Amino acid sequence: MDPDSSDEMIDHLVDFFDQVAPVYDGWANGQHGRVAARLVELVKPKKGQHALDVGAGTGLVAHLVAAKVSPGSVIGIDLSDRMLTIARAKLSKHTQFLGMAAERLVFRPETFDLVTMGEAIACLGQVAGWRYRASGGASAPGRRISSSRAWLRSRAGTT
Ligand SMILES: C[S@@+](CC[C@H](N)C(=O)[O-])C[C@H]1O[C@@H](n2cnc3c(N)ncnc32)[C@H](O)[C@@H]1O
Repeated sequence: MDPDSSDEMIDHLVDFFDQVAPVYDGWANGQHGRVAARLVELVKPKKGQHALDVGAGTGLVAHLVAAKVSPGSVIGIDLSDRMLTIARAKLSKHTQFLGMAAERLVFRPETFDLVTMGEAIACLGQVAGWRYRASGGASAPGRRISSSRAWLRSRAGTT
């Protein structure tokens, strides 16, 4: 793999997450779920808000946010079909999961009150560019973008 090629890096990540999808939620006795719960606790989503969850994976963050914002809504985006399949299989109202790249959001400006990114920031090659587009494009100015980085730390600890 050419580390300078972002397309190759994305293919590699998608392959990786497609493979780990079936065991993702149970990894380390549910560590991802605990990190997701902590992120949502810190974010404090409010009833009626509309949220975007970037790199939603199996929906751990998105489903917790949906329970808080109801009757608002959460859209989770991800590139791994297998992670998305698991997210969609979890029963929850007001959630929708779409196959979409964080780098190519297609939402209208100011669509979301809140953007979350649970343990996904390490996957994104152009974080600065993504943040710019998210804050100027899909999320209203002054509204919140919140992310956790535990995945990066936990992976670093195991390699
Ligand atoms: C470590 S998982 C985190 C999943 C979930 N947010 C959580 O908190 O458990 C990272 C997710 O980001 C997704 N991802 C990686 N690069 C992406 C990109 N460029 N656009 C959208 N999703 C991406 C992966 O497919 C994977 O499901």
